[in-house]
Amino acid sequence: MEGHILTNKPRVTAVRQIRRESTDIRTIVVQDERCSKATPGQFAMIWAPGIGEAPMSLSVMNGEGLCGFTVKPFGATSNALCSLKEGDLIGIRGPYGNGFTPIYGSSLLVGGGTGLAPLIPLAKVLMEKGGTVTLLLAGRSGDDLLFLKDAEKLLSDSKHKVAVTTDDGSYGVKGVASDYAAELLERETYDMIYTCGPEPMMKKILILAEEKVIPVQASLERYMKCGFGLCGSCNIGSYLVCVDGPVFTSKQLKEVSEEFGVSRRDSAGRKIQI
Ligand SMILES: Cc1cc2nc3c(=O)[nH]c(=O)nc-3n(C[C@H](O)[C@H](O)[C@H](O)COP(=O)(O)OP(=O)(O)OC[C@H]3O[C@@H](n4cnc5c(N)ncnc54)[C@H](O)[C@@H]3O)c2cc1C
Ligand code: FES
Repeated sequence: MEGHILTNKPRVTAVRQIRRESTDIRTIVVQDERCSKATPGQFAMIWAPGIGEAPMSLSVMNGEGLCGFTVKPFGATSNALCSLKEGDLIGIRGPYGNGFTPIYGSSLLVGGGTGLAPLIPLAKVLMEKGGTVTLLLAGRSGDDLLFLKDAEKLLSDSKHKVAVTTDDGSYGVKGVASDYAAELLERETYDMIYTCGPEPMMKKILILAEEKVIPVQASLERYMKCGFGLCGSCNIGSYLVCVDGPVFTSKQLKEVSEEFGVSRRDSAGRKIQI
């Protein structure tokens, strides 16, 4: 009971550090004991005072008080978060959701854009468990690629791999992540595929994985108001993304195939095309 209260109560904290990940994307690091101990794939509700609140995947968790999230500017809240300066105050509650379930074997991680945010801490956990990791990073162009240096440093041991695709070919292999993932799946065997990013990309990854009979864990985004199962704004099929997800298994994704990669709800609850 006390744990739930402490998780859901917004904590006001000052921005400790701002990392510039690309021209417009920033990682904001703050002090928050609870979120610093989160599981990769869990998210926090981040409040920009006077503007709004939005769910953000945790991209930094040092287990000792520091955590961070990586924001791309879209609307009012994300723009306000991207404009923060060190010392500015934000609100944080959580961590929420289930997070990824780590396995011990060989994993393929596929992420696009800010979808890469939870995959870097996940790669760390998989490596700590003795697993082998191939991380496929995708971006529109070389300038949009996130966490490339972090990934290369983390996965520098030759048993791991970092692969890169860009839509315009300005870095790595030219093309989309799912096409390169298809090539990898022809050459290598994996025990699990983890993915986070644009839903059409994740849907293609699910189809490829089904053909090779490899299980998938995919992290979904839906509009969220409460973050802990009260408002229903984040529903997909019979699930609530904030409590049943944001990470869903292949079996669950097939159950919601009419909505996965097809539609989501807007802030007023109307279904809109993805
Ligand atoms: C579990 C979870 C984890 C998330 N993690 C991150 C993260 O790590 N980093 C991050 O930047 N965002 C993340 N998001 C998305 C984030 O919560 C917001 O939706 C996004 O920042 C826009 O919010 P806003 O209030 O600024 O814009 P809004 O006012 O909600 O939207 C402004 C415009 O942007 C569009 N838009 C909103 N979200 C998206 C989107 N994801 N893709 C494309 N267009 C969009 C809207 O349709 C609208 O047209 C996550 C969402 C969920 C559910
Ligand atoms: S965000 Fe309110 S139920 Fe999921």
